[in-house]
Amino acid sequence: MSTNTIDKPKKVTTATVRKMKAEGRKIAMLTAYDYTTARLVDAGGVDMILVGDSATNVMAGNETTLPMTLEEMIYHCRCVVRGVERALVVADMPFGSYQVSAEQGVANAIRVIKESGVQAVKMEGGREICPTVGRITAAGIPVCGHLGLTPQSVNQFGGYGVRAKDEAEAARLLGDAHALEEAGCFALVLEKIPAALAAKVASELSIPVIGIGAGAGVDGQVLVVTDMLGMNDGFRPKFLRLYADLAPVITSAIGRYCDDVREGAFPGPSEQY
Ligand code: KIV
Repeated sequence: MSTNTIDKPKKVTTATVRKMKAEGRKIAMLTAYDYTTARLVDAGGVDMILVGDSATNVMAGNETTLPMTLEEMIYHCRCVVRGVERALVVADMPFGSYQVSAEQGVANAIRVIKESGVQAVKMEGGREICPTVGRITAAGIPVCGHLGLTPQSVNQFGGYGVRAKDEAEAARLLGDAHALEEAGCFALVLEKIPAALAAKVASELSIPVIGIGAGAGVDGQVLVVTDMLGMNDGFRPKFLRLYADLAPVITSAIGRYCDDVREGAFPGPSEQY
């Protein structure tokens, strides 16, 4: 047997994360959009990597996630997949790539899987997307749902505030969560909703529930990697914990490089041929 086989970490699958929930083990998930970051995130030990449509905010500077195209998503997914050995990689289905019909959704999900090599897709929405979830899972593609603050609906919501604070919206979200599980979702992301509601969803569903701004009573957590590494200067929502403060580290390193170049201090004698 080659040592490669021995050294390779065991790939996380949808079965792995279901088992983690059943055993009460929390799931760690982060976003990644490029090869270099994906390698670091995977080496850090996350269980799942989301190639979020937040890529269009983080990598392209767009204000909302709405401009992300399917081609751009496939490109980012390919870059991430090349850098990942262990984590389960999930691609966000961009706005407009699945809302028109179940046929459109299944055709585009097949493209994402076939052309990028990710293992699953994620879609925003409740019972209205269940027929599409059913068609995609019937095609053999695992689907992760996404409820609560669904950024593709920002214009309908009128902002990025906490969702499901009132009883009617909370009851609707709970019903949507059950409908998504019944339609075949293997996991569900809950974004920016009250912690008590998120905990109720997680306790009622048998699939893993991953939270972002949804408290500690869920089965796992996801954050945008550049946010938790402190690269997104000034973005400090209540739910975010900074695990590093890289923006000042990076700008200071670049400042020192500029000084060295301008003073003729770089390259030195040992840094040339
Ligand atoms: O696009 C994204 O990064 C997401 C997470 C915030 C869940 O959907």
